[in-house]
Amino acid sequence: MKKLTILGIESSCDDTSASIWQEGQILSNCVANQDAHKLYGGVVPEVASRAHLENIIPVVNKAIVESKVSVDDIDAVAITKGPGLLGSLIVGVSFAKSLAYSLDIPLIEVNHMQAHILAHFIDDPKPKFPFLCLTVSGGHTQIVKVTDHLEMEVIGTTIDDAAGEAFDKTGKILGLDYPAGPIIDELAKLGKAKFEFAKPNIADLDFSFSGLKTSILYFLKRKIKEDPNFITDNLNDICASVQKSIVDILLSKLKKAQSQTGIKEIAIAGGVSANSGLRGALNKTSVELGWNTYIPKISYCTDNAAMIAMAGYYKFNIGEFAGQDMAPMARMKM
Ligand code: KG4
Ligand code: ZN
Repeated sequence: MKKLTILGIESSCDDTSASIWQEGQILSNCVANQDAHKLYGGVVPEVASRAHLENIIPVVNKAIVESKVSVDDIDAVAITKGPGLLGSLIVGVSFAKSLAYSLDIPLIEVNHMQAHILAHFIDDPKPKFPFLCLTVSGGHTQIVKVTDHLEMEVIGTTIDDAAGEAFDKTGKILGLDYPAGPIIDELAKLGKAKFEFAKPNIADLDFSFSGLKTSILYFLKRKIKEDPNFITDNLNDICASVQKSIVDILLSKLKKAQSQTGIKEIAIAGGVSANSGLRGALNKTSVELGWNTYIPKISYCTDNAAMIAMAGYYKFNIGEFAGQDMAPMARMKM
């Protein structure tokens, strides 16, 4: 019997990715990263769109070849509709539409943030409903209550910067390349979290990271006045301290959400969930407080099309297809 096969495509930010999902497993998950943004210290939307245009056909082709399925086996094309950079989304959506049209198969629109959470359903063990998911990426920081594959409610969010931005913007101050999150993670492993920064005091389950960034900036300015080599001589300890501050903020809100909802199934998702400090702190807390925690493998934390194909499957199941008039959305609610 023919196996259900879905092609997922992701192009919301600076990674072009394509993946083939077939009956319960991911057969391929190809990602083309864009190094060009390193030069600018952040993602430049026009540069990202151009790179998607160059990468999209080779990446989709690679995903199909690696999966060993034939193009005619593909039953549907799942594509990120938003949120993300509009120019980047347009490239993916236009390509997905053309492909679905030419193969005469359904097109499925996927919410990028929802897909980050559904990445948990690619491998075992899978979280049980209801569960809480801390979704932390370069553009978002949310605590989401998940009651079913496609039923999700955001119960906490950032009022300013996202957790990934806190890593990236601090990294820029420290002179690190973009994206600084993974670099800070590596350097933090070599240092001690011996510096303290002001902690935000935000109501309910919401987050704020812009105050932390300012606190770090003023701390560094003060220290550099005393010792011009302060950053170079203390880089590992600064990174460890920055990482601990960000992880502490995330964990304290997650604990609050857990006690408010009584839900002990706890997951993390999004690029920042690749952070070793966050992963370690979550594992420690799960032992202390008896949580069941779910941490995706690194390649399903950062932007990838496997999660888009996975989300596509749940929509395929309920027959939720998009029309050829579908348009991407830079801002898109769950
Ligand atoms: O989910 P993602 O790949 O793209 C968005 O949807 O934004 O997340 C990218 C973010 C960046 O801010 C990057 O610095 C951060 O995730 N990131 C990390 C790590 N790996 C990626 N932050 C901290 N530690 C990491 N290991
Ligand atoms: Zn993402």
